[in-house]
Amino acid sequence: MKLPFAFAKRFVAGEDFSQAVTKVRDINKSDIKVTMDLLGENVRDRETADNTVKNYINLLHGINDQEIKSSISIKLTMLGLDIDPKYCRDNLFSLLEVARENDQFVRIDMEGSDYTQQTIDLFNEAHQEFGKHVGIVIQAYLHRSKKDIDDLAEIGADVRLVKGAYKEPERLAIQNMPAIREAFEDYTKVLLEKTQFPRIATHDDELIEWTKKYTADNGIGKARFEFQMLYGLRQQTCEELAKQGYNVRIYVPYGTMWLPYYTRRLKERKENIWFVLSTLFKS
Ligand code: FDA
Repeated sequence: MKLPFAFAKRFVAGEDFSQAVTKVRDINKSDIKVTMDLLGENVRDRETADNTVKNYINLLHGINDQEIKSSISIKLTMLGLDIDPKYCRDNLFSLLEVARENDQFVRIDMEGSDYTQQTIDLFNEAHQEFGKHVGIVIQAYLHRSKKDIDDLAEIGADVRLVKGAYKEPERLAIQNMPAIREAFEDYTKVLLEKTQFPRIATHDDELIEWTKKYTADNGIGKARFEFQMLYGLRQQTCEELAKQGYNVRIYVPYGTMWLPYYTRRLKERKENIWFVLSTLFKS
């Protein structure tokens, strides 16, 4: 069954670039930057992966042409990671060539744990070649992340820290929220100490307030890091943070393949389900 887009529009900025750009412009007006995500996951044939590379490249050009303040976020499984890592690497490098030519930035989202090592390996290769034009995401819930954070901090990588959105088994991931928050705080400290501009991606008031206090107490300026949140969640909090002088970036997904992303958002919080259901009954 194909769900109508009306269900998704709370979390998804449109089904095509032109619809999403309107939303991005509105966000930029509040002094908030964006990272645009053309939705989709797990491409299994080369034709679709080749088209995805073209679409991502068009997105970079579109951002330039429209003069909006946006980077892009991508998924390696959309560039053919399931087909062949070497092919995926070539696709990633083609995209990053365009990003470098246009002085843009590409963040590699982190997917489920089956892909963590390959994602980090490809990021490391890309980082050596493209430096500041590429970044990665680390999930605080994974047990392995302590070492990954240390290694990435050592090379000064641009890291977005998140809790982690996929269902992972106990042997791989912390299962309870207080321990995930503790790990998140530990990794934030490492990133603030060793990297130039960490991205703290959470809607969690406890972590946002902790970050504000920790940075203020340790003389770390607001210009040294960025808060990131997802489109459709906590818009007011984002605007308040921006008014307080913090860097804020909103992750803006768009495209027709919105179902997996939308389902993850609903699973995260039952309030999200209520919000979606209530918007369905409003005109
Ligand atoms: P969480 O859902 O754990 O909620 C904790 C608390 O935050 C709540 O109790 C409440 O106090 C507050 N809160 C949360 N949502 C609220 C709302 N709508 N209104 C009011 N209060 C609210 N994951 C991944 O695996 N790979 C990735 O690449 C990314 N990328 C990414 C980018 C960005 C910009 C963000 C913000 C997140 C991701 N994620 C991700 C998702 C991430 O891993 C995680 O699943 C979600 O951010 C949910 O965790 P939170 O810490 O945001 O709050």
